[in-house]
Amino acid sequence: MRLIFLGPPGAGKGTQAQRLAERYSLVKISTGDILRDAVSRKTPLGLTAKSFMDQGSLVPDDVVIGLIRERLKDSDCRSGYVLDGFPRTVPQAEALSKILEEQKTTIDRAISFEVPEQDLIRRLTGRRSCPACKRAYHLDFQPPQQPDRCDVCGERLIQRKDDREETVKNRLRVYAQETTPLLKYYDEQKILSKIDGRGSIDSVMNHLLEVLKGVNKGQK
Ligand code: AP5
Repeated sequence: MRLIFLGPPGAGKGTQAQRLAERYSLVKISTGDILRDAVSRKTPLGLTAKSFMDQGSLVPDDVVIGLIRERLKDSDCRSGYVLDGFPRTVPQAEALSKILEEQKTTIDRAISFEVPEQDLIRRLTGRRSCPACKRAYHLDFQPPQQPDRCDVCGERLIQRKDDREETVKNRLRVYAQETTPLLKYYDEQKILSKIDGRGSIDSVMNHLLEVLKGVNKGQK
C-alpha cells in the first residue's frame, strides 16, 4: 500500500502513520522528521531548512522534492509506505506524480485528517516529541508513562520549537494557503478520502482502517 497523509499541523498524521506503519510493516516517510534530523546534525540540508522551519514556513519545493526522490529509491519502500507531510504544495504533488510514473507505481489513497482549528492549537501546544524514535505524546491526551521520557526508547522528550503558539498560527495559515489545494488535486484523481480526525486516537485509527479496507476492494 502506498498512501499520502494530508491534514493541518496537529491533525494526527504522524500518530496514525506510526501506528499504521507498525501494523502493516509499511515505511513511514515524514519530511518533517527527515528535515529535523538534518537540522540537529547541522548538515547542508539542515542549514537550509532551519530558518524556514523555525518560522513555520515551508522549506523550498526543490529541496524537499530532491529529498523524496532519493528516499523513494530505497529498497524498504518496495513493501509500501505512508508519506506523512509530503506533498504540501501543488508543485510537490506534480513532482511526486512524475517520480511515481518513472517508478511505474501509483498512490493508492490520499487521506485527509480533518480537525477544527481550536483542537489543533491545543494538540500542538501540548505535544511532546521523542527526538530519537520520533513518537509523539501529549500532556493530556497521550501522556508518557514516566514524565518527560519516551515509553519506547527512554529518551528525554522535547517540545518542538515550532509548536509554540505564534508559530503554530503561521503553520495553520501556510497549510490553508499552500496545502489545501491538494484536496482538490487528489479528489480529481479520485483517490481522496476525508477522515474525521476528532475523537480518540483509537477511534480515528478504526475509521482509517475502515477506509483502507475499501481501498483494497477498489472503493472510495
Ligand atoms: P511536520 O513535522 O510535517 O509538521 P506538520 O505537518 O505541521 O504536522 P505535525 O507533525 O505538527 O502534526 P501531525 O498531524 O503529524 O500530528 P501528530 O500526530 O504529531 O513539518 C514541520 C516543518 O517542516 C514544516 O512547518 C515545514 O517547515 C517543514 N516541512 C515538512 N514537510 C515539508 C514539505 N513537504 N514541504 C516543505 N516544508 C516541509 O499529533 C499532534 C499532537 O496531537 C500529539 O501530541 C498527539 O499525541 C496528539 N494527538 C494525535 N491524535 C490525537 C487525537 N485523535 N486526539 C487527541 N490528541 C491527538
